[in-house]
Amino acid sequence: MYACFRSIGAYVPKNVLTNHDLEQRVDTSDEWITKRTGIKTRHIADKDETTSDMGTKAARLALERAAMQPDDIDMIVCATISPDYFCMPSTACMIAKKLGVANVPAMDISAACSGFIYALATAKAYIEAGMAKNVLIIGAEKLSAIVDWTDRTTCILFGDGAGAAIVSATENKEEAIIDVNIAADGKYYNYLITPGCGTNHPCSEEVLKERACFIKMKGNETFKVAVKTLTSDVEEILAKNGIASEQITHFIPHQANYRILNAVANALGLSDDQVVMTVSKYGNTSSASIPMAMNEIYEAGKLKKGDLMLLDAFGGGFTWGSALVPFCG
Ligand code: UT7
Repeated sequence: MYACFRSIGAYVPKNVLTNHDLEQRVDTSDEWITKRTGIKTRHIADKDETTSDMGTKAARLALERAAMQPDDIDMIVCATISPDYFCMPSTACMIAKKLGVANVPAMDISAACSGFIYALATAKAYIEAGMAKNVLIIGAEKLSAIVDWTDRTTCILFGDGAGAAIVSATENKEEAIIDVNIAADGKYYNYLITPGCGTNHPCSEEVLKERACFIKMKGNETFKVAVKTLTSDVEEILAKNGIASEQITHFIPHQANYRILNAVANALGLSDDQVVMTVSKYGNTSSASIPMAMNEIYEAGKLKKGDLMLLDAFGGGFTWGSALVPFCG
C-alpha cells in the first residue's frame, strides 16, 4: 500500500495587519520590514478564534475537496506550536470534537515550522504500515497569541492561519508520495525558543514579567543555518530519488523570509514560476505556511492532478524536512 496526497484546504483569518499598522506599535518601518523579509501584511485571528477553530475550517475544506465525510477519517495529526491549551487536551482532539470524529487516534506534533512535513511523514508511515487509510493532517497556528508585541525583532514576522490535507492509501504507485525526509538537531534549541512556562521555567510572576512565555529568536544566526539546511536538504532528496530540479512543478518552501526563499531557489536553479511565494501576504505562519501556500496555488487553478510538488521546511528545534509529492486532487 502507498500513501497519496489527495486534497488541500486552508483557512485565513479575516483581520489584516499591515506594516504601517506595526509602525504604530513598535520602532520599525514598512521599508525595513519589506527589505529584510518581503512581508507586507499578515492575518490575525479574532480574540475568541482558536487554533483548532482555524484548523477545523481548513480540514472541512480538505474533506469536501476529497469528497469525503469526517467519518471516513481514521487518524488526525495536527502540527502546531500554538495549541489551544498549554499541555492538554491536544489541538488534534479539539479538531476531532469540532468535526464530530470519535474513536480514532488524534495527536499533535511539535516540530515548529517543519510541523506539516513531520505530519506528512507520520501519515505516510501509518498508511504504509497498514495502520491507517485516510489521515487528516493539519498545520494550524495562532502565533499572534505567543508573539511579544513589544519586540520589534519578532512581532513583524508572524501571522495566523491553518492548512489541512487528506493523505490516503492507494495501490497505484504513480500516485504515491515519492519520499519524505525529516530531521532535527537539538544543539540549536535556544536559537528559536519560548523560554518560559515549560517545566524548565514554570509559569511564575518573574517569567511573565520577563515576557519569557513569548517567542524569542536569534534571527541572523537562524537565517544562516536555515539557508544552508534548506538547500542541502532539497539537494539530498532530489539526488536520492534521481529527480532533476526541472522536473519539479511547484517548489513550496516554508514561508519565513523572501531572502531565504530566493537564496535557496537560486542555489537549486529553480525558476520564478516554479517557486511558490506567499510570505508577503501572510508572513510566517509556522506549520501552516506550506499548506496555506499550497492552497493558494490550488485556488488559483495552478495546482493540477499529477503536478510534482517539492516541499521544504526549517524551524525551531532546529527541525527540518523535505518531501517529493505528486498532487492527486
Ligand atoms: O520560521 C523559522 C525560521 N525562521 C527564520 O528562518 C527567520 C530567520 N531570520 C530572518 O528572517 C532575519 O534574520 C530577520 C528578518 C529576523 C532579521 O533580519 P536581519 O537582516 O538578520 O537583521 P538583524 O537581526 O541583523 O538586525 C539588523 C538591524 C539591527 O540594528 P543594528 O544592531 O544594526 O543597529 C536590529 O536592531 O535591524 C534592527 N532591527 C529592526 N529595525 C527596524 C531588527 N528588527 C527591526 C525592525 N525594524 N522590526
